Amino acid sequence: MESIVTESSAVHFNEQAFTELHNHISLNSYSKIFVLVDENTETHCLPHFKDKVNFEFILLKITSGEIHKNIETCMQVWNDLSNLNADRKSLLINLGGGVLTDLGGFVASTFKRGINFINIPTTLLAMVDASVGGKTGVDLGVLKNQIGVINQPQMVLVVPIFLKTLEERQLHSGFAEMLKHGLIESDAYWQKLKLVTDFDNLDTLIHDSVLIKNEVVLEDPTEQNRRKTLNYGHTLGHAIESHFLEDDSKDTLLHGEAIAIGMILEAYLSKVLTGLSQTSLNDISRTFLSRYKKVNFSETDIEVILSLLKFDKKNSHGNINFVLLKSIGETEIDVKIESNLFSEAFSYYKHL
Ligand SMILES: NC(=O)c1ccc[n+]([C@@H]2O[C@H](COP(=O)([O-])OP(=O)(O)OC[C@H]3O[C@@H](n4cnc5c(N)ncnc54)[C@H](O)[C@@H]3O)[C@@H](O)[C@H]2O)c1
Ligand SMILES: [Zn+2]
Repeated sequence: MESIVTESSAVHFNEQAFTELHNHISLNSYSKIFVLVDENTETHCLPHFKDKVNFEFILLKITSGEIHKNIETCMQVWNDLSNLNADRKSLLINLGGGVLTDLGGFVASTFKRGINFINIPTTLLAMVDASVGGKTGVDLGVLKNQIGVINQPQMVLVVPIFLKTLEERQLHSGFAEMLKHGLIESDAYWQKLKLVTDFDNLDTLIHDSVLIKNEVVLEDPTEQNRRKTLNYGHTLGHAIESHFLEDDSKDTLLHGEAIAIGMILEAYLSKVLTGLSQTSLNDISRTFLSRYKKVNFSETDIEVILSLLKFDKKNSHGNINFVLLKSIGETEIDVKIESNLFSEAFSYYKHL
């Protein structure tokens, strides 16, 4: 499977990935190599990683979960690196899902003003989404990704065999981002994804998704225009995700599950504001509802979610900017929305 050259990095796939990793390591005289895992990737991914690599490394471990994606966990890893005498010529390899690659990337980017890092995403979401674009960072309380920097890893290795041990629910969460790639860029890809019923062999579709995201990021690295389209479903989706993170009485909602709802709500807004056809709205709603659980939002939930919108990083000058669909595969960016339309969108979702 062909490597994908990104802005100032590259994504390598399967066997080629480990060849590139070894080439990189033999070309760079790293003083020490650290591998960051959490308890799940230590159990499920580290054994395969160890089988594939021929160099010595020091293992660092954090606790899994979005609630640990914070500055305290960074402190722990910075301290570990420091106590283990990491220096500017050390390498950090992040072996884990998006939480771990975001946090590990941020730790590496800031430790001694920046050391090299390599990401090996082990969840579908991290493979198709967190693997391109160089976003690193952590949450601030329940507010997602408020602290961070953009910095490219030396390379990203996508090895779908790691997905064999990932829970079905996590696979669905990542699949939501792939469906998003179809909605914003390609009706053909959307149609292809809709036919997927099992997740046993996603290699080619993962490659397609990484290509789509990369094309968008390459054209607009600083998120002035086209890159904003990747936020489709995320403006409302992130607010929903934050609300569920904040409220202990609620079941957890995974990132993909939250943005799946965001994508239905924003498809409704697209029908009202940017000409998305009723047929496409029905298609989008049906597709997501058949794959993701429906959530009951109370009036209070909706109020809190709307109040969280103002923390969205895409806001500027107090305006909330949305990416909406003109049709499947075609977007319009920077759409401003009057607040009464949001309750209409939630009402549409409720009555589906
Ligand atoms: N940087 C970016 O561009 C970008 C893009 C999208 C999402 N993100 C971030 O990614 C995060 C979500 O990532 P995620 O969905 O990967 O969640 P995650 O990192 O929390 O991983 C989900 C769970 O799966 C476990 N796990 C990971 N790999 C496994 C494997 N192969 N087998 C068994 N268990 C495994 C993890 O330990 C964790 O418990 C969010 O914080 C989001 O903000 C970043
Ligand atoms: Zn996302």
